[in-house]
Amino acid sequence: MKSLDLTSEARMSVEMNGFPAKSDPLPVKNGKKPSTNGHTLNAEIHQNGTLPTPKRAKESFEQVPIYTAIMTYLGFYILMFLGYVNQMFFSPKVARETNREGYTPLYDQFERFYLRYVYRRVKDCWNKPISSVPGAEVVVKERVTHDYGWTFEFTGRETKCLNLGSYNYLGFAESTGKCADDCIKVVEDKHGLGPCSSRHEYGTTEIVQNLEALTAEFLGVEAAVVFGMGFATNALNIPTLLSKGCLVVSDEKNHASLILGLRLSGATCKVFKHNNMKHLEKLLREAVLNGQPDTGLDWRKIVIFVEGIYSMEGSIVHLPEIIALKKKYKAYLYLDEAHSIGALGPRGRGVTDYYGLNPKDVDILMGTFTKSFGSAGGYIAGSKEIVDFIRVNSHAACYASAMSPPVAQQIITSMSIIMGRDGTSEGLRRITQLARNTRYFRRRLHQMGVIIYGSDDSPVIPLLVYLFSKIGAVVRTLADRKIATVGVGFPATPLMEGRIRFCLSAAHTKEQLDYALDTINEIADELGLKYSKKPRDPNPILYETDDLSGVE
Ligand SMILES: Cc1ncc(COP(=O)(O)O)c(C=O)c1O
Repeated sequence: MKSLDLTSEARMSVEMNGFPAKSDPLPVKNGKKPSTNGHTLNAEIHQNGTLPTPKRAKESFEQVPIYTAIMTYLGFYILMFLGYVNQMFFSPKVARETNREGYTPLYDQFERFYLRYVYRRVKDCWNKPISSVPGAEVVVKERVTHDYGWTFEFTGRETKCLNLGSYNYLGFAESTGKCADDCIKVVEDKHGLGPCSSRHEYGTTEIVQNLEALTAEFLGVEAAVVFGMGFATNALNIPTLLSKGCLVVSDEKNHASLILGLRLSGATCKVFKHNNMKHLEKLLREAVLNGQPDTGLDWRKIVIFVEGIYSMEGSIVHLPEIIALKKKYKAYLYLDEAHSIGALGPRGRGVTDYYGLNPKDVDILMGTFTKSFGSAGGYIAGSKEIVDFIRVNSHAACYASAMSPPVAQQIITSMSIIMGRDGTSEGLRRITQLARNTRYFRRRLHQMGVIIYGSDDSPVIPLLVYLFSKIGAVVRTLADRKIATVGVGFPATPLMEGRIRFCLSAAHTKEQLDYALDTINEIADELGLKYSKKPRDPNPILYETDDLSGVE
């Protein structure tokens, strides 16, 4: 087995006393000290003090019509009122805590009420068990409720549905083919399923080391470290890098795993409006000018936290401007590429590839293997110094089991295919197919007159239905027509912005997309979802087929 490849300082610390190395790989960077990345203020990026205005795909966030907004609030308050009445007269069919006098309640009162009397009405639309690989199609197990959503029973029937609900962007969630074969071989020939140990003990297999080297090469940075769970990659590594006295400037739409990591770290967090560069700059400027609120001391570090593609909004981060701001204010940048890695960029290498930026301009690249790679786990990548520090100090490396070998193999094989290492253009074909599916699906939805959010290049497509009751109606009607989708409502979205989220895949064919689009069109007429006031394209939307030169 190869050595762990730590920096000499990190290795000495591990080898000599078994305790983590303490040197901080993110030195003080708070807008006042000299930059560590060699850039001076307003250098090559913004010579005249203005931020660059890079080219990017159109983005749409059409406002909700006023009548719909009123109806949405009204509908929600009626639901709440009915819930309170229901609660007064009928006892809930749930287990009750007894003999708890003197104890503080275990559950938040509003949360409990909301789950029982509001969410229960549409509960059948979530938590649907499946019994197949989540490919272009998925087999959904049928359930039935005889008591208005308190409990569910399986009917024994299963339905094969078109899958618009899984994050299988490049179609690598497959139970046959090269990925599956390689994974089976890894289990049978050598490694079995589980490492049964953490990275700091006996969990560092050569297969995981190979994956780390390949991930670093794929991302175009010095080093990468991988973990068994994407959520934990954020939640457990952010506290390794940040602590009290650090300031985080975080996009308001950031994922729960980032927020949990930030809370655990003890850093102070300021939230900027989604993708709003003016607001981000205002917060950075104030942070540099004012320092810490109680003492006026400079912040120890200032770190900007963003995602590549925002999974509820379908928007793409405005990375060129953010990199310019981070350089201008000497802040660090943490970029979560859970949804963008594999799915964006001409080579599938994420949002830096999409904009043609240098990945080394992002201090910490984080991503997950659960989406485009059809596997599990997450990575942190960047400079060798940062990665080594995390390798040694992270709770996820020290106290959690290492990544399972077949899980690592699935990523190695799929990533190798994306990189063309298998000697074919299959990876490029999938990337192009996803981009083409995305454009086609989004343009046809626009033409239909429904409101969708996000960037024209994002394979995450939220369709706004606004009213809470419409989320349930759309998910159920689509399920009846054998289309599996995900509904999203309050509290995951603002009260007024209930939506259905479609996730596209390279595995989808044009025929499948046409079936989904025709069905959505019918449902949009039946349920009154055509809220858009934008002019519609009168011409037929063509499925681009002429841009695959060189692809077999
Ligand atoms: C932005 C973001 N980060 C992290 C995660 C957590 O990753 P995982 O689901 O792989 O645990 C998700 C999950 O969807 C996500 O959307």
